[in-house]
Amino acid sequence: MKNIKVAALVVTATLSFASLSACSTADPAGTTSNTTTHPAGYTIADGFLTACSEIPFAPFEYEDPAAEDGVTGFDIELGREIAKRLGLTYKFVAVDFAALQSGTTLAAGQCDIGISAMTITEDRRKNLDFTESYYDSLQALLVKTDSGIKTLADTANKTIGVQRGSSGQEYTEEHAPDSATILEFEGDGDLWIALQAGQIDGILQDQPVNLTHVKADADYVLAEEYDTNEQYGMAFAKGKLLELQADVAAALKAIRADGTYQTLYDKYFA
Ligand code: ARG
Repeated sequence: MKNIKVAALVVTATLSFASLSACSTADPAGTTSNTTTHPAGYTIADGFLTACSEIPFAPFEYEDPAAEDGVTGFDIELGREIAKRLGLTYKFVAVDFAALQSGTTLAAGQCDIGISAMTITEDRRKNLDFTESYYDSLQALLVKTDSGIKTLADTANKTIGVQRGSSGQEYTEEHAPDSATILEFEGDGDLWIALQAGQIDGILQDQPVNLTHVKADADYVLAEEYDTNEQYGMAFAKGKLLELQADVAAALKAIRADGTYQTLYDKYFA
């Protein structure tokens, strides 16, 4: 009900809003909305959907000089589609993942929404509100093809790199052999460089991201996959921007219902 304050002020506005609403019931995220219908404070910067991601995390969010703002990926395109349907301009902000998943970044008002392949967890729900899940995921261990590492048990006395604050870090801490060293990195950008440099023997993180490296470089394989049953959600500061939260939820639903989600899914995961 994003228009309620505006509509309450002027009778004619109320009437035209009512007819707009009626037209847009089939498309709740309606292309009928535009920036002028949103009350001040609907987002942190009027007219924009300011969205935070930690990059690179391909195929979800990564640099592409040819793309708008120089970034693209499954999350970014999904975010842009949501913004468009809400009559907002998508504004990308690169942030640290540990601070994003802890709720610090969003609580500080750096962005409206975190779209960053973020797994919904009970722990994170203490500081964040999540959308319905939009992607099912799992973990995997990426190693050099000739490393001899076939399972997590083979990492005894070896070094595993993880992203600070990630579900992969948590999984590794729980399941890696005691003699394995776990090294924290800011994200896949540093992890991949460290693996190539031989500074670490493996990367344990989200399977789709590790798989992207395997597809690009035959010297690397997925040693093992871990069925962690993770689901990604888009995140908001807990209890904040509630109108926006409701509208993003409706937009996501519409994006699934009209096939846009499937088209994007096929583009990035086929
Ligand atoms: N899914 C994992 C988690 O939530 C890792 C997400 C990292 N995302 C990123 N864009 N760097 O902990």
